[in-house]
Amino acid sequence: MNILVTGGSGYKGSVLIPELLKDGHSITSVDTNWFGENLISHPKLTKIKTDIRDIDSIPFDGIDSIIHLANIANDPAVELNPNLSWEVNVLSSYQIADKAVRSGVKQIIYASSGSVYGIKEEEKVTEDLVLVPVSVYNKTKMVAERVFLSFKEKLDIKCIRPATVCGFSPRMRLDVSVNMLTYQALKKGKITVFGGNQTRPNIHIKDMVNVYKHFLKNKEIPSGCFNAGFENISILEIAHQVTKSINAEIIVTESNDPRSYRQDSTKLIQTGFEPQYTISDAIEEIKRKFEEGEIDASDKNYTVKWMKKLGLSNSNKS
Ligand SMILES: NC(=O)c1ccc[n+]([C@@H]2O[C@H](COP(=O)([O-])OP(=O)(O)OC[C@H]3O[C@@H](n4cnc5c(N)ncnc54)[C@H](O)[C@@H]3O)[C@@H](O)[C@H]2O)c1
Repeated sequence: MNILVTGGSGYKGSVLIPELLKDGHSITSVDTNWFGENLISHPKLTKIKTDIRDIDSIPFDGIDSIIHLANIANDPAVELNPNLSWEVNVLSSYQIADKAVRSGVKQIIYASSGSVYGIKEEEKVTEDLVLVPVSVYNKTKMVAERVFLSFKEKLDIKCIRPATVCGFSPRMRLDVSVNMLTYQALKKGKITVFGGNQTRPNIHIKDMVNVYKHFLKNKEIPSGCFNAGFENISILEIAHQVTKSINAEIIVTESNDPRSYRQDSTKLIQTGFEPQYTISDAIEEIKRKFEEGEIDASDKNYTVKWMKKLGLSNSNKS
């Protein structure tokens, strides 16, 4: 298959692309490379350094499926420059879907987010619940889903709502919970947990990649939204899991972030998907990579810090 991956140099993309190449696909990756290129060289991989807002710089001819990952990818990063965020996360989604249809692309898999639900009291957060996005990031994700789904009569649309992803990637993210707590334990022998009782779902990056592969393979599954989150556990429980493998003290402080929710991924599992990895696999992997010197405290591993350094925030521009 010919697959276009947007955001291919990012945390997810740089793990996903080598796996797609192993499966024999031809890949075109488009990315601004804000966090570096992070990709191997391969005869079936074409890397294009461009901004998805420049839609004419993206080649769509001959593409069968698009995996759309390129976004400003967390709450505080989106707040740095909301105008940029709406353009990248929403306006570009429309342009990509529109050009995909006109170019004969058969499928778009969009990396939405489990955060579109907002704060939910329900024990099981399923795809049919009303979305109450609380942050600008969540809102851009919700509206982009609606944009993509408005094209579902013309091509296959899968909106994936992942939980927080964990595990090692060549573009490491140390601003996501499991990775952050594991790194704190390794580096400082101390884990600081804000609040700690909020329950959140998680997904290992290798399962995340397998979700995308599952939908590439099974296009007969009807278009729609799919949760992808498996271990619903509290931040404090994550910290305890970390200390089973790494000797560290846990310090609990007050939190002003009340969000606590459990994602239910029965719909995804009923399509035949089975998760294979756990949070503890991610902790072990990060520990090994740290010991091998492959993870450091570079600002690049923290999305907001790095975007500020790149001058991508409003305040830096003025
Ligand atoms: N990591 C998670 O826990 C998580 C959870 C749920 C959803 N998601 C979603 O998955 C997607 C990928 O997330 P990630 O963790 O890999 O983030 P990331 O920031 O590591 O990757 C995003 C990539 O997109 C690129 N990019 C951003 N704006 C661009 C633009 N205008 N043009 C071209 N490239 C651009 C960046 O350079 C980066 O390489 C995002 O849409 C994110 O919202 C991530």
